Order: sequence, then structure tokens, then C-alpha cells
Amino acid sequence: MSIAEKFVAMEYGPAPEDPKDALAWLDRHSRRFEHFIDGAWRQPAGGAYFDTHDPSNGEKLAAVSQGNAADIDAAVHAARAASLKWQALKPHVRARYLYALARLVQKHSRLLAVLETMDNGKPIRESRDIDIPLVARHFYHHAGWAQLCDREFPGYEPCGVVGQIIPWNFPLLMLAWKIAPALATGNTVVLKPAEFTPLTALAFAGLCQEAGLPPGVVNIVTGDGATGEALVKHPDVDKIAFTGSTEVGRAIRAATATSHKKISLELGGKSPFIIFDDADLDSAVEGLVDGIWFNQGQVCCAGSRLLMQESIADTLIGKIRDRMSTLRVGPPLDKAIDIGAIVARVQLDRIQRMVAQGVEEGATCWQPKMAMPERGFYYPPTLLSNVHPTSIVAQQEIFGPVLAAMTFRTPREAVELANNTVYGLASCVWSENVNVALHVAAQLKAGVVWVNCTNLFDAACGFGGYRESGYGREGGREGLLEYMEPSWFKHAPKLPTANSAVPVLDHEKDDSSAPPIDRTIKLYIGGKQVRPDSGYSMAVKSASGELLGEASLGNRKDIRNAVEAARKAESWSKTTAHNRAQVLYYCAENLSSRRSEVVGHLESTVGKQQAQVEVELSLERLFAYAAWADKFDGAVHNPPFRNIAIAMNEPIGTVGVICPLEVPLLGFISLVAPLLAVGNTVVAVPSEKFPLIAGDLYQLFDTSDIPGGVINIVTGYVSQLLKTLAEHDDIDAIWCCGDDTTVAAAKAMSTGNLKQVWTNEGRAIDWFDPHQAEGRWFLEHATQVKNIWVPYGE
Ligand code: NAI
Repeated sequence: MSIAEKFVAMEYGPAPEDPKDALAWLDRHSRRFEHFIDGAWRQPAGGAYFDTHDPSNGEKLAAVSQGNAADIDAAVHAARAASLKWQALKPHVRARYLYALARLVQKHSRLLAVLETMDNGKPIRESRDIDIPLVARHFYHHAGWAQLCDREFPGYEPCGVVGQIIPWNFPLLMLAWKIAPALATGNTVVLKPAEFTPLTALAFAGLCQEAGLPPGVVNIVTGDGATGEALVKHPDVDKIAFTGSTEVGRAIRAATATSHKKISLELGGKSPFIIFDDADLDSAVEGLVDGIWFNQGQVCCAGSRLLMQESIADTLIGKIRDRMSTLRVGPPLDKAIDIGAIVARVQLDRIQRMVAQGVEEGATCWQPKMAMPERGFYYPPTLLSNVHPTSIVAQQEIFGPVLAAMTFRTPREAVELANNTVYGLASCVWSENVNVALHVAAQLKAGVVWVNCTNLFDAACGFGGYRESGYGREGGREGLLEYMEPSWFKHAPKLPTANSAVPVLDHEKDDSSAPPIDRTIKLYIGGKQVRPDSGYSMAVKSASGELLGEASLGNRKDIRNAVEAARKAESWSKTTAHNRAQVLYYCAENLSSRRSEVVGHLESTVGKQQAQVEVELSLERLFAYAAWADKFDGAVHNPPFRNIAIAMNEPIGTVGVICPLEVPLLGFISLVAPLLAVGNTVVAVPSEKFPLIAGDLYQLFDTSDIPGGVINIVTGYVSQLLKTLAEHDDIDAIWCCGDDTTVAAAKAMSTGNLKQVWTNEGRAIDWFDPHQAEGRWFLEHATQVKNIWVPYGE
């Protein structure tokens, strides 16, 4: 074709990026890679290797070591040996290493981008312009945190040795999201890249050598799920950070339940892309291209569910189809390609299977007519319309270039549809009306909301999910907290294991032999005192064995009623912080006026002195959280784009609380007050040792303007009530104080809906010391951060 003809046709010619340097790099390593352990390359202990392929043509790129438990052990050992020295370095010195890594990423950016594209299949335009620059930005940003950490987080220390497991969709970027904050806060790491995409992690190991990073600080062990599992189960790992499927996230939660590993999980999503009728439709369509066809849709926060206001649906579908017809699918090293290759055959099969099922369930499938490459794993951009909200393609992550479209009529319906999945990772809202956009953003159950934009990420802005999309944040200040712990907590002594975890059932009585009804403390559900479903009660005795009274013996049904009441009261989260503060002050006022009565009740169990101190400090604690209620603010981040990101601290929802045994009143107030202060509703099980305190608490809450259902109290045996609480799908988080056995049960039983769990890790918290038992640390666990990105400028 002549130039003149090309000028008229305006057809793309091939514009391939040169893979020469990447191929030379592979050849320099003889196309065979060992693990990177203790600063050196180590052969796999089992002698096994597996191949990694270029999904755009199916060709083998290199052989990579298959890690086993012995390799993981060697890597963890190296990380542990390096840990204290790395922690002891001056913050400025750690900052220099991170800065050096950022510089090296930039220097080698071309090699890294090409290698990423060859191993993963993503368009070079994306790896070159998005992934690798963000990797560098992450190391720069965290070089800054390394410098500032000691002064910004006094009293905190690193977790220690961190195991990190990452997926294949953003191989080097996920590595950066994991390694940069871990190193900045003084941890050493063992990272396992995904089996489909290990190469850039191995190239990064080379950069660690080039930067002179002390041996053992970063270790990279390649392998499959079994290698990841060995890392998760290794007893000398202090924290696991995982990104990947919800299914594996759940397995990790189960595998670590009996350990004290700190966990952060970034899991799947089914993110809504909501377009209102007043949106700039052309911009929204461009956003959608980015939202679902970026990285072939293999993106955890992909805008895979299009929710369109009914009045614009036909116009919008027309525009989307037109735009889809211009997308180019092809070899990812071609710079003029929009959609590259799917990472592997299994993923392609999965996409095909799910689309077929969606069509079987009634969806209409539309794909533009376009030339597809003959070799490699490709899937065309796909639009599924008339999708029913319960269809598999509206509920489950497809992880491919497939958009499922639905309509709504009102903002309220949009929010309902948007929140109608088990996930809660990201969301987009398109409307020119800022009031509507922010009103909707506030109601979305998602860790990130992009207003009139999509897929923006930055190292300064936390990213992570609500609900089954996981918990913990990556990026920003909150991301750093995932890699540290308060020193006092890390070194707190163990609580003794309870001698009798099994309830003594002969204490239970039925109504016929029960003492007069006025001596039995009832349950407190929905703002009312109610009799337990079983009609049974438990005898409560003093330290000397004298009968003090009867407390209701709550059961499964009572917990369910309490959860229902708590759910109904969730408008508590929408009351103003000032109001919540006033209610907590009022509680303190009422406790103060009943001081001597409450001391009198408590002293038979804990002694007069402790009873007096508990009441005094409970007053102080209520005041403290009343003070915090309107001061635990979020932040406004300034990412390097024309956006601000508003980071809001939002309540988690309905929280189940197992209160500490030994400090009945102060322990209860110390856990419940921070949860209420930030807008959660609560179902609490008070101290099994002195549940009669519940009677005093009802009076307190009844007279303090707390709306019915915001706080619910079910007395009874922890061993029976915890299970129902932990397994309940309408409980969003569990706070559990107890011995090792109790907290392990709380963790193990709550994996079903992946609810967030905070426990005392079987350690003794000094509830009388406000440095331990009060403040930001509790509030941080009582909230989750939502980042709302809002663009500015014309
Ligand atoms: P996956 O969750 O199995 O793999 C992610 C990482 O976890 C890999 O490094 C893998 O080796 C490791 N792993 C697997 N089993 C493990 C175990 N039992 N213990 C510890 N580590 C383990 O994801 P997969 O199979 O690659 O993709 C399947 C689906 O998961 C995708 O179709 C997609 O829906 C979802 N996914 C979501 C991602 C996200 O970013 N949220 C990323 C990758 C996949």
C-alpha cells in the first residue's frame, strides 16, 4: 500500500515493540531461573522446574523453579536472619534502599515492560505507560515513608517476616504494592509470584542485587498454589499479604486461624459502573473502555457490571457498540493494540464457559466483528445485555473482557443493584451532578469509588475492599498500618487458657425451678429487654461461690434476633458524628449517676477496689470515644493527577463482640464504645464470668437516647454464642477477646463470608491502661476506608 493510499485508508500498520533486550535477558539466564534466597540464586530443593509461556503465541519463555516446603523454609529462615538488622537500620538508610529500587525500576523500565507483556499478554501500551510507572511511583512514595515512619508511628514496630502471594494480572505492580510498604516499615519478605507470570519478579530480584539490598531482606520463591500454601502455613511467618481469588483468600483464612499471623486480603470484585442520564455519555464510554477492556478485563476492580439509567440505555448501548467496534485485539507487543492476550488457556476456557452460561440464563451476547490473531489465547470484547441481576455473569467475577449490562430507574435502585453482590472492591459513578454522584458514592459498599473517572491508582491512596473483596488497604497511611503492630500488643503476655471452656450445664434451670423472674437478667434486643428463646438461665456466682443471681442463657435464635435488630438500626451510621458523641456523653452521665449501684453489683465478682476503678475508667472511656466521634477524620489525598481522593473512615456495619472475661464493665465499654462512636451497630456477649453487668448496661442504654437495635446484648456461654455470631452472614466483623482457643475459633468460624476479625490474639490487654485499651488503634479496626476519587478542572 502506498503512503497516499494509507493516508486515505487510515489503517493501522504493525508497530511492534522490540523484544531484543528482554530476549537477551532471558538468554543471559540461560532461560532457566532459580529461587532468589538470601541474596543469591538457589536451585529448587526438589529439583523441579516448570515452564512459563508467552500467551500471545504459546511459546515457552523460560523454565522456572518449582518451590516446595524446603525452599520456603530456607527463604523464611533467610528473612528471619536479616530481620533485626534491617529493622535496626536508620530510617534514612532504609529510605535510600527504597529510593535506589525506584530509580532502578525507572532505569530498566523498558526491559520490565516488555518482559511483563511477554509473560502476561497485556498490551505494551499498558505495561509501559501504566504498570511500570506506578511501580516506580510506589517505591518512591514508600522511600518517603521509610524515612518518616519512626516519627509518624511512634510505639509501632514491624510485623517481622512477611509472606506475600500475588496474582498474575499485574505481576510487577502487585509486587511493588506488597514489597514497598513492607520494607519501608522494616519488615523482611518472602514473595511468591503467580505461576503464570514469574519473570518480572525474578528481574526485580536482580534489581535488589544491583541496589545492594542486604541479603535476606527480599526473597523470591517461585511455584504454584502448593508453594503459596507452604508459605501460608510456615510457623515463622508473622504476616500474610495476599492478592488473588476470594476462594484462595478463604482458604488462607482457614489455614491461619490457629496462628497469630496478621492477614490482609485483596480479593475479587464485581464492580458496578453506574451511568446516570445526566452523565457526559462520551466520556463515560471512554471510561468504560478503561473500566472493562483494560488488561483484557483481568482486573480485580474491573467495571464489569454496567448499570445504566433506563432513559439512556438504548443510546448508550449504541455508543458502546460503536466504540467496541474500534477496539483492536492483537499481539500485545504491538503498540497500537487495545486488547492483548488472555493470560492462559485455563483462563480463556473459564471466560468462554461463563459467557455461555450467562447466555443460557437469558443474556444477549454481542461481539464486534473483528480479525482475531490465529495463534495464542484471545477473547473479543463482549457485551452481555438483558442480564438478570441474579445471573452468574452479574454475580461472579469473569476476569475477562466481558461487560454485563443492566438498567435502573432511580438512584436508589442503582445503589441497591450496585450493592447486590458479595463483593465490594470498587465502583464508578458517572453524573454531571456532584450532589447525586457523592450521595450515591457514600452509599456504595466499596473500598473505592471513582466519580466520572475510572481505574485510577496511586501509592498515596489506599486500595482495598469491603465484604468478600477482602480487607486491609494497600497504599497510603492505612496501607502501612497493615505491616506494623503496636509494640505493647506484640509483646503482651498470653492470657491463661480457661480451665473449663465447656459450660457447666447443671447450672441451668428451666422456668419451673427458676428463681423469681425479677432476679433474672433478660437479654437486650432491639432496645427492649426480652426473655431468652430457651427460657433457660445461668447461675452467676461470686468468687467465693455464693449465688449472685441468674442471667439469661441466650441461644442461636437470640443471636439471630439480635443481628436482625442490629441490621435494622444501621441508620445509626448516618447520624452525625456530633450526635453520636452526644449519646456517648449521655451514657457517661447516666453511668455517673448510678455509680454506687454499679460498683455494688460489680464488687462481688471483682472486689471493691477493681469495681470502683472499672466504673471510673468506664466513664473516662465513654468520654474519650465521645471526644473521638467527631475527630476520627479521613483525609484528602493529592495524587499526581487532576483528582482529589477523599479517604473516608466508614463503619464496617454490624459487629459481633465477645467481651473480655476478667474486666466485665470496663472491657465491655472499651470495645463497644469505639464501635458505636464511628457508627457501627453491635451484638455483644458480655463477660461470661459476670454477665449480670448486662442488667446495669440496659438501664444505661435505655436512658441515653441510643436508638433501639444499635446495641444488643445476649448473655450466655461464649462457646455456644460465638459460633452463631461468627457464622452469621449479616455480621460484618467479629471482635473477640479470649484465650488462644477462643480466638482461633472466632477466626476459623468466620471464614464463610470472610468477615473482618479483630482479636486480642489470646494476649492480655491491660484494660486499665488507656495507652493500650483506648484510641486510634481500636477506631482503625472499627472502620474501613473508602477512597472517593473526584476529578477537577475542565
Ligand atoms: P488464585 O487465587 O488461585 O491465585 C493467586 C495466587 O495465589 C497465585 O500466586 C497462586 O499460586 C496462589 N495460590 C493458589 N492457591 C493457593 C493456596 N491454597 N495457598 C496460598 N496461595 C495459593 O487465582 P487464579 O487461579 O490464578 O485465578 C482464578 C480466578 O481468581 C480468576 O479467574 C479471577 O476471577 C480470580 N483472581 C482475582 C485476582 C484479583 O486480583 N482479585 C487475581 C487473580 C485471580
